[in-house]
Amino acid sequence: MDMKLLVTGAHGLLGRSLLEPDFDAEMIGCGRGETPVGRGTYHPIELTDPQVVFALLDRVRPDWVIHTAALTDVDRCEIDRPLALQINLEIVRHLASACLQLGLGLVQLSTDYVFDGRNGPYGEQDPTNPLSYYGALKLQSEGVVLQEGLKGLVLRTLWLYGYLPGTRRNLVTWPLEALARGEQLRVVDDQWGNPTHVHDVAQALVELCRRQVQGLFHLGGATYLTRYQLTQELARFFGLDPGLVQPISTVAAGQQAPRPLRSGLRTQALESLLHSAPLRLSQGLEQLAGQESFRRDFSTLF
Ligand SMILES: NC(=O)c1ccc[n+]([C@@H]2O[C@H](COP(=O)([O-])OP(=O)(O)OC[C@H]3O[C@@H](n4cnc5c(N)ncnc54)[C@H](OP(=O)(O)O)[C@@H]3O)[C@@H](O)[C@H]2O)c1
Repeated sequence: MDMKLLVTGAHGLLGRSLLEPDFDAEMIGCGRGETPVGRGTYHPIELTDPQVVFALLDRVRPDWVIHTAALTDVDRCEIDRPLALQINLEIVRHLASACLQLGLGLVQLSTDYVFDGRNGPYGEQDPTNPLSYYGALKLQSEGVVLQEGLKGLVLRTLWLYGYLPGTRRNLVTWPLEALARGEQLRVVDDQWGNPTHVHDVAQALVELCRRQVQGLFHLGGATYLTRYQLTQELARFFGLDPGLVQPISTVAAGQQAPRPLRSGLRTQALESLLHSAPLRLSQGLEQLAGQESFRRDFSTLF
């Protein structure tokens, strides 16, 4: 164990996945709650306070900070802009300034919402044009992390799924719960993307830190489809009724924040760098179905 990584957002989906005992690195978690999580040391922290952030980084002195904490509710970001600004940009500035002073690496997680969704899937070189406030803040945060002099890495990802008990529902666990109860679901059929198994992202992040890679990369799963198709696939895979899933348009869904429609991320650059490819949706679902905690907490599916 030669590498020390500090993971913010320890209770979130990606944070929890990074803190699973799968990686050969010293993993230290920090999060808002008092309840420790993960196998290593845990620090409760409010990241909005720059002095608290500096003190923690100074004490821990990780090789890299992997910053997964964020306000990830895109519609809430659109409505509560001051809060979104504070969490999704100001915190990144505090972290970047502390990392710069202490000579630490900083990884920022970003999103396909930096694109407008006119002609995805997108590569790293494609022009950005965020439609939502969440996307605009994430784009600005990329600039902060990729600034001159800072050891910075930005990984854009999208449509994260997986299961870690206690994390908020995601685009796979939420429909599965509803479909298992026999509920009808209305799901948008004009938003395209590639669902990404959270473990693929965690694995790539650890490997990129180990190799001291800097710059901007995309990571999205190997299956490209609409949200509606994804939900139907889920139903079929777990032997539930796909007829419960009704297609609707994004306009009819009436979401607060505008969404990129034909979105998605191309991952070739990272694949050739790491010599590994992210999972297809069917492979990700197989992995999920074999996971002990998922089988226990979703026992009605088996
Ligand atoms: N999920 C996706 O599909 C997706 C797609 C593209 C990009 N990303 C990016 O990937 C990263 C990880 O996403 P995720 O799905 O793992 O997020 P998540 O499950 O929503 O977790 C985010 C975590 O950040 C914590 N947090 C928020 N504000 C904080 C603060 N002021 N101080 C300390 N902790 C704070 C939250 O704590 P509380 O639990 O206390 O709120 C939560 O545990 C994020 O940067 C996200 O924008 C995610």
